[in-house]
Amino acid sequence: MSTIIDLQTKIRKIQTQLATDIDNLASQQELTISYLGKKGLFNQVAQMLRELPNEEKKTAGQLLNQLKEELSAKIATVTISESDNQSWIDLSAPGIQPKVGHMHPISQAMRDITHIFEQIGFTRVRYPEVDWDWYVFESLNMPPDHPARDEWETFFVDAPDTTDKNVAYDASEPRGRHPSLIGGKMVMTTHTSNGQVREMERLNSTPPIRMINIGRCYRRQQDATHTQMFHQFEGLVVDEGINIQHLKGTLDYFAEQFYGPGTKSRIRPFHFQFTEPSFEVDFSCHICGGTGLIDGNRCKFCKSGWHEVGGAGMVHPNVLKAGGIDPEIYTGFAFGWGVERTYTLKEGLNIDDIRLFYSGDLRFLEQF
Ligand code: DAH
Repeated sequence: MSTIIDLQTKIRKIQTQLATDIDNLASQQELTISYLGKKGLFNQVAQMLRELPNEEKKTAGQLLNQLKEELSAKIATVTISESDNQSWIDLSAPGIQPKVGHMHPISQAMRDITHIFEQIGFTRVRYPEVDWDWYVFESLNMPPDHPARDEWETFFVDAPDTTDKNVAYDASEPRGRHPSLIGGKMVMTTHTSNGQVREMERLNSTPPIRMINIGRCYRRQQDATHTQMFHQFEGLVVDEGINIQHLKGTLDYFAEQFYGPGTKSRIRPFHFQFTEPSFEVDFSCHICGGTGLIDGNRCKFCKSGWHEVGGAGMVHPNVLKAGGIDPEIYTGFAFGWGVERTYTLKEGLNIDDIRLFYSGDLRFLEQF
């Protein structure tokens, strides 16, 4: 009578022998026959099952199943050499269809947002994700040490602070426009608002400007509703005679295009350093039609008929000045908010944990 120990010893021998045979360049066909064939080593060892005591049979069966899987997998990795007799390849068999993926849901949302704004004459731009403090804060009317900066939990980059007077001043660099502010710290962009003054510079401080800047942002935050990396989109319009009605019209247009006909926008007074006046922006809930009720019950998705999405306002004169634009002649509006939230609202998704978007877990991503 054999025991499970004998079986395990045999299994190990087969594993070692397969490794040796593969090293000695045995062909896939030879290996298939001698290991998995009718009289192959696997079937030989499998016969031991009969000789084992009943209480060991279950474990032995599992070991044998594992062995079979391992042998098949290893043999399958052996490349078919020319010496193999290829007659067993069935050329008429259908091929293996490669799996077709699709765009990440957040990329889809960015594409849709871009398209909606391009329809009304905005140009999509991209600006650095790692940028000077000047573009991220200072040019946006937030001097060093201003308390408003605390709202953006910033990652600082360990790069030389070029305010060091030993570092040469490069006049070809756009910051050459701000001789008093050469250099400064490098930060991971905490919002896409860094694109505002960059866009003014790109257009040589000459309106009209109609920018949509979509990009990655970074903040020191990580929980179920925040990821350290996320996306925002930022709109900026500067021209003569731009007023709040243009902003409101643009928000209503976006609401209808992105969330569907009948969706409205609402602006509420707020404070941002870079806009005056400033607003928070809400969109009416497209699930309950903005009523807050579904069949007489409270809409579970919005509770009040509205969803808060982001910020907006009329560009502060200091921001226009920082971009070399005369605020006596030109005015502008700006808005900015998160792509992830904008997208999950659209789909009516109650995603408990937005980190799932970046988990790379196909079970999650394949649903979109
Ligand atoms: N940058 C702001 C943030 O990240 C959002 C924002 C508010 C952008 C108002 C704007 C604006 O352009 O006008 O919270």
